[in-house]
Amino acid sequence: MRTKATIEGSSHDAFLWGAATSHHQVEDDEPSDWADWTRDPSHTIDGSRAGRACEWWSGRAEEDLTLAARLGHTAHRLGLSWARLEPEPGRFDEVAFDRYARLLDHAHGEGLTIMATLFHFTLPRWLAKEGACLSPRFPERFARFCDRVARRLGDRIDLVATINEPSVLAFMAYAGKRWPPGLGRIDAFFRALAAILRAHAAGYAALLDARPASKVGLVLNAPRFDPASGSRRDLLAARLQDRFFNAIVLDALTEKRGRVAELAGPLRVSALPKIPGLRGSFHWLGLNYYGRYRVRFDPRAAGTLFGAHVQEHNVRLEHVDWGEIHPDGLRDQLLRFAQASPGTPLYVTENGVMDPTDARRVRYLEQHVAAVEEAMAGGAPVRGYFHWSLLDNFEWAEGWRAPFGLVAVDRETGVRTPRPSAERYRALIEAKEGHT
Ligand code: FCB
Repeated sequence: MRTKATIEGSSHDAFLWGAATSHHQVEDDEPSDWADWTRDPSHTIDGSRAGRACEWWSGRAEEDLTLAARLGHTAHRLGLSWARLEPEPGRFDEVAFDRYARLLDHAHGEGLTIMATLFHFTLPRWLAKEGACLSPRFPERFARFCDRVARRLGDRIDLVATINEPSVLAFMAYAGKRWPPGLGRIDAFFRALAAILRAHAAGYAALLDARPASKVGLVLNAPRFDPASGSRRDLLAARLQDRFFNAIVLDALTEKRGRVAELAGPLRVSALPKIPGLRGSFHWLGLNYYGRYRVRFDPRAAGTLFGAHVQEHNVRLEHVDWGEIHPDGLRDQLLRFAQASPGTPLYVTENGVMDPTDARRVRYLEQHVAAVEEAMAGGAPVRGYFHWSLLDNFEWAEGWRAPFGLVAVDRETGVRTPRPSAERYRALIEAKEGHT
């Protein structure tokens, strides 16, 4: 275990403690593809939409960021809405840029370091019409957006993440049908993943061209996949899931060829084309970790590479699950990232649990922060931890039924109530920072 001194660091590279949110999940009435998609009530399990969400756009962001600072946070990760900032191709909305400028100034005034994600699942409507991530112009359009953000808001953003969770997006929206555009085709998974990585590489270059001081990263979802038994078939199924979800992206970002050309097991396919500019296109990497999946070979589960998840669904909501709570997996994935890209600063950009009663969150938080410390003791250069989420918010296809917040939000009145875990997190941060 790391001691207090090792997780602190100088004020220059202070370890960041905070929570994460994304624009569509907390901002009211974002005019994006997700707003259109959720007009159809069958697209969320409770028929709900983000709607007014947590009213961050119309004014409540400031009060919630003040609350985060009072809860001891030193940083916040948030999303900027491309749909708001570029409502028509090439036309940028200066009023919307000003709104974000005020919000970011407020956050800095509260002493919060800001990590901003530029593409966290939602797209402008015009881009969705053009083919979303499969539009041939998507990477170049994303680069233009990155350029404008860097010029307009770059001095207010401490760490910039281009894209959130390429594999999850490609899986849910292109291989699957639950997120827009809902193509439901396995070939679309690979095409979308390649396009998203191309957009990242183009965005990285644009951000640095516009503002050479930018600190640019990419956020990857990194669950752990373990075989459900010692059988070879289960092992192969777990490896396949890990390869297509985790390794494919990590390899493409770090390996010499800058591409993925092999598949675990007997099959050998070239899954992604070579992507110019991708290798090494990051100053830091973000890792989102919720839990682990135990995988059993299942010949009927073609859509999930012949692997079914058989763990205790202790983070499960109806037909969706975030895996089994397994803090060691966070430690191991951090160490894996550190090995894949030696010396690259790492951030836990999301980690949390769906838990309306807070029965599990306190322990979850303690165990996962301990796992981060173990990874650091093992040599992983972790620079911050962002809990998902600051407050209950709109959880994509799960609608309003998946409360992940340190702070509970009453949907009727909008009243915010910090849960016991928020207080525990504050005490934990204070203890680590030596304020107790
Ligand atoms: C992650 C997403 C985030 C939130 C959490 C629960 O995959 O990045 O927006 O939905 O899951």
